[in-house]
Amino acid sequence: MTSPGRARFIVLDGVDGCGKSTQARRLAEHLSKVRGVEALHLREPGSTSAGERIREILLSRDHDLDPGVELLLFAAARRQTLRELVAPALAAGRDVVCERFHASTFAYQAVAGGLPEADVLALLVRWSNEPEPDALVLLDLDPDLAARRRAGPTDRIEAKGLEFQRKVAAGYRRFAALRPGTHVVDASGDADTVERAVRAAVGLV
Ligand SMILES: Nc1ncnc2c1ncn2[C@@H]1O[C@H](COP(=O)(O)OP(=O)(O)OP(=O)(O)O)[C@@H](O)[C@H]1O
Ligand SMILES: [Mg+2]
Repeated sequence: MTSPGRARFIVLDGVDGCGKSTQARRLAEHLSKVRGVEALHLREPGSTSAGERIREILLSRDHDLDPGVELLLFAAARRQTLRELVAPALAAGRDVVCERFHASTFAYQAVAGGLPEADVLALLVRWSNEPEPDALVLLDLDPDLAARRRAGPTDRIEAKGLEFQRKVAAGYRRFAALRPGTHVVDASGDADTVERAVRAAVGLV
């Protein structure tokens, strides 16, 4: 079954371990089926070769990066992803599902990291905002629960601890409050339940 209409750029965001990768994969598969064109599934930072190199720097425990350096690196990786992957995919009629975007930068580097919120938003809007997402879904999950879902080694940012993660969660809520169109989805249910809620949020039933 295919459905006509403009391709859409959908972002899934939320705390470490809230289910972004799980839900982005499911949403991209669903969109591919219903629209008959394979959707592009991206993660941030990364997805481009330059972005994956930037991701290594950001997440490696070999570097001690202050929130300002993190902001500039995330913004650079995002700009590269938008120009190299998102814009061409949308132009070719492919939907794009991206894990993480401005809400993450706002939550981690501004609210939890202490950078001035307005400066962070201004930089992102000036340099990393084209094309703009059509929909933002925040997967809302208590950071303690999210930490229990996660397994394996932690990266440099995950290693900042639960207190930091709680500030990040507050940052996401603040971002949603500042952007009234944001879809906040309860991510505490099983993956099928969350998937249905994500689809409903973006108008797919
Ligand atoms: N609704 C759910 N209920 C229980 N476990 C889940 C659910 N969704 C995902 N998981 C599991 O929780 C873990 C984290 O999920 P996932 O990797 O999708 O999250 P993430 O937000 O991408 O994490 P990260 O920020 O670390 O990339 C995985 O082991 C996944 O299988
Ligand atoms: Mg993930």
